[in-house]
Amino acid sequence: MGRFDGRVALITGAASGIGHATATRMATDGAIVVGFDRDADGLAAVADEIATLGGVMTSAVGDVAKREDCITAVTTAAADHGRLDVLVNVAGVVWAEHVSDTTEEGWNRMLGVNVSGSFWCAQAALPLLIENQGNIVNVASNAGLIGQAYTVAYSTAKGAVVNMTRALAMEYAKEPVRINAVAPGSVDSPMSRNFTMPNDLDWTLVQRYIGFRDMAEPSEVANVIAFIASDEASRMHGAIVSVDGGLTAG
Ligand SMILES: NC(=O)c1ccc[n+]([C@@H]2O[C@H](COP(=O)([O-])OP(=O)(O)OC[C@H]3O[C@@H](n4cnc5c(N)ncnc54)[C@H](O)[C@@H]3O)[C@@H](O)[C@H]2O)c1
Repeated sequence: MGRFDGRVALITGAASGIGHATATRMATDGAIVVGFDRDADGLAAVADEIATLGGVMTSAVGDVAKREDCITAVTTAAADHGRLDVLVNVAGVVWAEHVSDTTEEGWNRMLGVNVSGSFWCAQAALPLLIENQGNIVNVASNAGLIGQAYTVAYSTAKGAVVNMTRALAMEYAKEPVRINAVAPGSVDSPMSRNFTMPNDLDWTLVQRYIGFRDMAEPSEVANVIAFIASDEASRMHGAIVSVDGGLTAG
């Protein structure tokens, strides 16, 4: 018996990194997973991998920053599989830049994917999740808990994800649904491997958020997400769980 047997989980960003690891973790724990990502080829590869492990993942290709795509992904997941129990909002983007280099387009995209994407999926999913006493796990970041130099737009977006999680938890305090978030530190994923910093920066400002430990494996974050999404975490609601090797502890 798996802890998600009979449950359906919609996971955004499932084509890569933490989303991929979460899809694999939850599918091997019995969930029927619907991966929602803009990367169709990546989703197909993850679905094949999960099938070889004996699990099921279907795909929804779209852009989380577009409300219509989120509504389509949620309604299709529920229509195809008969229910929706868990939403994990993992899809995100990051880049570093000086404040003076931030464009209107870049600012809007950063908030559109990281913040609006999580909100539109939550808005569409909540009525279905409430039917099944389900839950939402948002993926924030250490950057949402502390201010980070050279990633001001990202830090702003992830701070918004943290407080969106709390505000949703309060508005739905009397409904049978749980809403929580994880805040990972550095994770060894395509996102962090492709991350570059501007050349002309003050490294003493960056050192404050590097921490003392190695990067986490995506599976280490996925394990915490899966725990929060499971019945074992039945009392957790409105929590922001750091998974950062102590980076934000002091
Ligand atoms: N990697 C880290 O060090 C780290 C640290 C803290 C928080 N996070 C957060 O964890 C989440 C996952 O990060 P990751 O490291 O797995 O990154 P990743 O780049 O490996 O994966 C992100 C996935 O999101 C998808 N995506 C991006 N924009 C999208 C959009 N508009 N619509 C649909 N899908 C979209 C990508 O196609 C990709 O599959 C992100 O929210 C990120 O901010 C990552």
